[in-house]
Amino acid sequence: MVIKNISLINYRNIEKMDIELSEGINLLYGNNAQGKTNILEAIYMCASGRSMRTHISKEIIKFGKESAHIQLIVDKGVYRDKINIHIKKNNKKGIAVNNIPVKSINELFGTVNIVFFSPSDLMLIKEGPSYRRRYVDIELCQLSRIYADNLSRYYKILKERNTLLKDEKADDMTLDVYDSQLVEYGKKIIEDRNRFINEIGLRADIIHSEISSGERLEIKYLPNVSEKNYEKKMYECRKKDIFYKSTSVGIHRDDISFNINGINARDYGSQGQHRTICLSLKLAEVEFIKEKTGYSPILLLDDVLSELDRKRQLYIFNSIKNIQTVITSTGIDEFAENIKENIKIFYIKNGSIEISEKKALK
Ligand SMILES: Nc1ncnc2c1ncn2[C@@H]1O[C@H](COP(=O)(O)OP(=O)(O)O)[C@@H](O)[C@H]1O
Ligand SMILES: [Mg+2]
Repeated sequence: MVIKNISLINYRNIEKMDIELSEGINLLYGNNAQGKTNILEAIYMCASGRSMRTHISKEIIKFGKESAHIQLIVDKGVYRDKINIHIKKNNKKGIAVNNIPVKSINELFGTVNIVFFSPSDLMLIKEGPSYRRRYVDIELCQLSRIYADNLSRYYKILKERNTLLKDEKADDMTLDVYDSQLVEYGKKIIEDRNRFINEIGLRADIIHSEISSGERLEIKYLPNVSEKNYEKKMYECRKKDIFYKSTSVGIHRDDISFNINGINARDYGSQGQHRTICLSLKLAEVEFIKEKTGYSPILLLDDVLSELDRKRQLYIFNSIKNIQTVITSTGIDEFAENIKENIKIFYIKNGSIEISEKKALK
């Protein structure tokens, strides 16, 4: 799949912008705080229904304006999809695919698939488990509406159960009902997470070993509870849950570990190793999504190239030959060195495109 066009109105510092993307590499370059990441954020919104930077969608509306609007046209070979997102001051979002309003974000998933890579992805390795769960969930939701559905049902029931525990209204009979539903959805989620992490892990290990001269990467799923013991453990922890007024067992406590040559990268890895893990993970995702959906996802690289050494940069450029990619950068030097193919260049200044040109850099 390929993004043909993206139009923005009153989107952060962008008053009005219309971008025709090329099928290959698109470079958005310019000084800091000009609107480059804003453009990637708008594409991200079309894939996931939310921003990677804020939960408060009204922050996206240009200061002093009433609403913001995104339109994205995706070409899938035989047909095109049009995504429209309208963000209002009351934090409400209206989303439509081909002019048909979507009732839940789950209906949007899969319309356009992206892989987004930015320096803050390092948090995936360094920070707490919630970052890693979020990562897995975002990827799986793009790929499977059933997963997205199971996950939203699980969290809805979990929220209700926790409210019940907080209000001290949890009796055994009510908890039985809640727990059987949590176990039902939880087991399906464990199964999908397990398969996804194994498959991504295999691909990421191969890529990682190529770019790091043979260092082996192992990505391991650490479920809070196994499918087999789910009911039993929930039941055993019920008294504790009532006492602490929260649900201690379940997929909302899952984690993943990243090991390099058998050693935990979170605790012992260098910044460079963390970066290489992230890069391997992202490129593995591209392969994985392509295999599962038949379409290459669009790769969004936000300010990551200048952080990588030449070998890793070259590896990226070789990997993205047939993948539509949108790259942001403050300069164009690293491209001049690495890219022989056509590249469409947009110079972004103060929320506008100053120059847009298609050329082969020498
Ligand atoms: N709601 C908003 N209205 C107007 N400007 C905004 C809004 N939100 C962010 N900005 C501006 O957008 C700019 C940041 O854009 P960004 O895309 O992150 O920059 P960069 O080009 O460095 O990637 C900043 O100048 C910021 O003040
Ligand atoms: Mg930026």
